[in-house]
Amino acid sequence: MAETMQGLHRSARCAEIGKEAIGREVTLMGWVQKNRNKGGIIFVDLRDRSGVMQLIFENGSIDEEGFEKAGKLRSEYVIAVTGTVEARSGAVNENLATGEIEIRVRSLRILSEAQTPPFPIEEDSKTKEELRLKHRYLDLRRPDLQKNLKMRSQTAALVREYFIKEGFLEIETPMLTKSTPEGARDYLVPSRVHPGTFYALPQSPQIFKQLLMCSGCDRYFQIARCFRDEDLRADRQPEFTQIDLEMSFVDVDDVIDVNERLLAKLFREMLGVEVSLPIARMTWQEAMDRFGSDKPDLRFGMELQDVTEVVKGCGFAVFQSAIEQGGSVRGINAKGLGGMSRKKIDKLVDFAKDFGARGLAWAAVGEDGSMKSSFAKFMSEEEMGCLVKAMSGQPGDLLLFAADKNKVVYDVLGNLRLELARQQELLDKSEYKFVWITEFPLLEWSEEENRYTAMHHPFTMPMEEDLEFLDTNPGRVRAKAYDIVLNGTELGGGSVRIHQNHIQEKMFQVLGFTKEEAYEQFGFLLRAFQYGVPPHAGLAYGLDRLVMLMAGTDSIRDVIAFPKVKDASDLMAEAPSVVDEKQLEELQIAALKKE
Ligand code: AMO
Ligand code: AMP
Repeated sequence: MAETMQGLHRSARCAEIGKEAIGREVTLMGWVQKNRNKGGIIFVDLRDRSGVMQLIFENGSIDEEGFEKAGKLRSEYVIAVTGTVEARSGAVNENLATGEIEIRVRSLRILSEAQTPPFPIEEDSKTKEELRLKHRYLDLRRPDLQKNLKMRSQTAALVREYFIKEGFLEIETPMLTKSTPEGARDYLVPSRVHPGTFYALPQSPQIFKQLLMCSGCDRYFQIARCFRDEDLRADRQPEFTQIDLEMSFVDVDDVIDVNERLLAKLFREMLGVEVSLPIARMTWQEAMDRFGSDKPDLRFGMELQDVTEVVKGCGFAVFQSAIEQGGSVRGINAKGLGGMSRKKIDKLVDFAKDFGARGLAWAAVGEDGSMKSSFAKFMSEEEMGCLVKAMSGQPGDLLLFAADKNKVVYDVLGNLRLELARQQELLDKSEYKFVWITEFPLLEWSEEENRYTAMHHPFTMPMEEDLEFLDTNPGRVRAKAYDIVLNGTELGGGSVRIHQNHIQEKMFQVLGFTKEEAYEQFGFLLRAFQYGVPPHAGLAYGLDRLVMLMAGTDSIRDVIAFPKVKDASDLMAEAPSVVDEKQLEELQIAALKKE
């Protein structure tokens, strides 16, 4: 039977009580973690959000009825106890914040009984994630997830405190809105009042925050829920949270400055980590050339080397044809891995193929200077010698080469570099390497659509010195865009916005929109710009990703209370689900296919 509170008040959470409370009477409430019945004495571990406290029930300190009740306690029962704080009679538990004390219970109330949970509620659970997500309310009782949720809440609180102090206004923007062009698919919501029409859930507050600058709000921020119907990965969710901001009368350096100080504050107050300012900056081109990625992990080296010039004219047809087709040959030197087995090297080749490589040429320099290689037979000894030298190859090194279009070479070697770092355990989670990536290309050529698409979004300002190429050579135009990258993860991104109508119209033109199409989709923004708009710029962080990195976990799901799985479903709520015929009728919608 479940008892009620009946005027009982909790005096503290478990881990809020320390040695100084010895002798005091306290009332605690929480879940039974463990119950050990030793005959005349019963030990119970009581758990709440803060931690665990050991309770002692002993005949004599508690009445007979209470003692009997204590004997029936099972895991996850919810109880309230009143008793006295004592120094531990048994061995001190150094793993526990409350390991030096225990509570001698005088009275016990069972507030709720519990069935045996489908998996043990414990740190570092070995239970399959699917089962845990189905019972997320139980999973969330685990201390690691409790810690993450707390961290997320504290981070959000610090973000608010910081931006308010810096003169930003927190403003909410609509959830039911018109499609925002962030490049993913929209989630649509049918309108009942206007049958056949749909709202889109925002992929970001982008257009609205720019309108707020038009409105004179000057500095805006929001902790905003965003929705993107895209393929899920370890660091992506269909609904996620941005720390979103926009500022008026600023340029790149102003945005970077405000945000560097925010990051320094967050890492200092949350983790005790000093981020040294200013954070390094690297152009997109440099990041690609050195790391094969626009989100480089700078915790280790193994940089890419361009050997196109070195191998030009050599006997290896694979290298030659890549160069002839305008591509390049680049390599990485996996220092000290020259002794890698053939089987493991073949695995690396397969790994490279997963990223679009047609092969991976390799050369292992033996400790005695001898050479094993997949392509040496096509090269003269001299050519091979030059190549090894260009790669700074030493005895014991493994050299890996990709030859293809630049895009493929970057992608293959960038990912291979990370894979080798993982294999060698070079990724230290307690090290935080920030970098700003700047001067992104404004546009990307889409083979699929046979046109340019915006790399960031269509409101991003081209670099002034490249404006002249917008007509003649759009592909070479760089943008006033910046990403903040931490340990190989894109934490956030933003840009200076176009605030001149003629540049915005030109941009739409380059993207292949007619003027009519541009006005149809973004007319409210373009019209707003006709009434006086300040130069403005902004940025958005993925809050989930930020907390994920601070918490040292590899999955974004670990920092979201109720996340979705790979196929975008919620295993607990069983969403998405079929709805009533009546609901569909009201919306004048017919589903073509039902599950
Ligand atoms: P962007 O599209 O780069 O920029 O998004 C900003 C940041 O949001 C996070 N993020 C995600 N996190 C989890 N799951 C996802 N599916 C997901 N998609 C993005 C990333 C990313 O860096 N409006 C612009 C910002 C601006 O220009 O001010 C925007 O949304 O951490
Ligand atoms: P093959 O002549 O096909 O036996 O290839 C010789 C070596 O070159 C093998 O190790 C292949 O994996 C490698 N190789 C093939 N295509 C490429 C490429 N595009 N870039 C780098 N190496 C390649």
